[in-house]
Amino acid sequence: MDKRPIGVFDSGLGGLTAVRELRKVLPEEDIIYFGDTGRVPYGSRSREIILQYARQDIAFLLSKNVKYIMAACGTVSSILPADFSDRLPVPYTGVLEAAARAAAAATANRRIGVIGTAATIRSGSYYRLLKQLLPDAEIFTRACPMFVPLVENGYLGRENPITTAIAEEYLADIRAAGVDVLILGCTHYPLIADVIGKVMGPGVTLIDPGRETADATRSALAARGLLGGQGGQARFFVSDSTEGFVAVADTFLGQYAGGPVERIDIDRYQLRLDQTGEGGRSIEL
Ligand code: DGL
Repeated sequence: MDKRPIGVFDSGLGGLTAVRELRKVLPEEDIIYFGDTGRVPYGSRSREIILQYARQDIAFLLSKNVKYIMAACGTVSSILPADFSDRLPVPYTGVLEAAARAAAAATANRRIGVIGTAATIRSGSYYRLLKQLLPDAEIFTRACPMFVPLVENGYLGRENPITTAIAEEYLADIRAAGVDVLILGCTHYPLIADVIGKVMGPGVTLIDPGRETADATRSALAARGLLGGQGGQARFFVSDSTEGFVAVADTFLGQYAGGPVERIDIDRYQLRLDQTGEGGRSIEL
């Protein structure tokens, strides 16, 4: 039994979709959530800036004595190096591996689509991972930068004409490629899964990385003897104003269900893994 909380972070509040999934599979676990609302979005930024932000986000969660860290953010998950978890004092997961595994298991025709932010698609991480899992698969990717602001501005619902029109435009090539699986590689996309599903058609399985990673997190905690919380309490931290948090959090979390929210100064947190490599080796992150 380990009563420490699980730490989850994201560039903003989109990662609450992953918290929603975590709560379903691990209702007793306590969660510390950090949303970098002062610096969102990450998806349009350079690799260097995303790494710098991610390090600070992780440093903050470590300061809260978490037992496990999950990057709910598709962008961060695609940028952090694969061996990153070896460098932290607690286990870490992004959302890529579980999503890619689920996609590889779900495809029958070995044609897989991936959508995400510009940084996620540019990183090529999903492509490489899927190719490792299924070398003969064909992967079709597309950045969908307008989906995030659409979701954040409430353009939700299966019949929303604006979101549908933009989805038609973004997804045309992937649909024409005949994929039978599509990875929703960004925290916000599960909230418009009904529109995306409608545009892609009934034969396409949509993969929600947050849901897959919640299942993987349960297995990882169990394997390490880290299961156990104090009743499923959640505490939320943001780097910008807490005003309006409850309304937005309701959209992402399904049901906010309480839990204090605090503003923190993220610039006070620094992770200096580059000087602490095992055996004194210098690590580049
Ligand atoms: N959380 C980001 C992701 O999942 C989307 C928002 C952003 O660009 O920061 O990629």
